[in-house]
Amino acid sequence: LRPGVANLLDEETIAKYDTIFVGSPCWWHQPAMVVCTFLEAYDLKDKVVIPFFTYGATTYLNESMQKIYKVTPDSKHIPETLPEDLDADDITMPGRPDDAGIDMPGSANGTEGWLRRIGIIE
Ligand SMILES: Cc1cc2nc3c(=O)[nH]c(=O)nc-3n(C[C@H](O)[C@H](O)[C@H](O)COP(=O)(O)O)c2cc1C
Repeated sequence: LRPGVANLLDEETIAKYDTIFVGSPCWWHQPAMVVCTFLEAYDLKDKVVIPFFTYGATTYLNESMQKIYKVTPDSKHIPETLPEDLDADDITMPGRPDDAGIDMPGSANGTEGWLRRIGIIE
């Protein structure tokens, strides 16, 4: 499903940005569907997309991340690769130990530490 986005930004506004941080809750191994609606509304070719999630447990982040990468196939991503290549749409196998190595703003040293680790600030 792709629920509509209220106040979708116009293409010209998006065109002004080279790097886009995409935040979402993790909902059953997936980003919120409306986040996919948003990403699919634009040509994000060659833009840098940096996904991050809020989540209730340290589970399913990899599949959620994979989905963001899947709906932005022409973008560059940080991180460039994910720990394990999963089928982002296969949500039938919860509990796979696939999240090791996925770094989020809430990991060590908070948002500032995360931004430093991914090379956004020095
Ligand atoms: C329907 C639903 C599914 C969820 N699925 C997951 C999940 O698969 N993994 C996880 O870590 N947290 C899961 N959560 C917890 C949410 O990620 C958490 O509530 C959210 O990130 C916090 O933002 P909120 O205050 O907007 O709910 C789920 C929450 C809901 C309501």
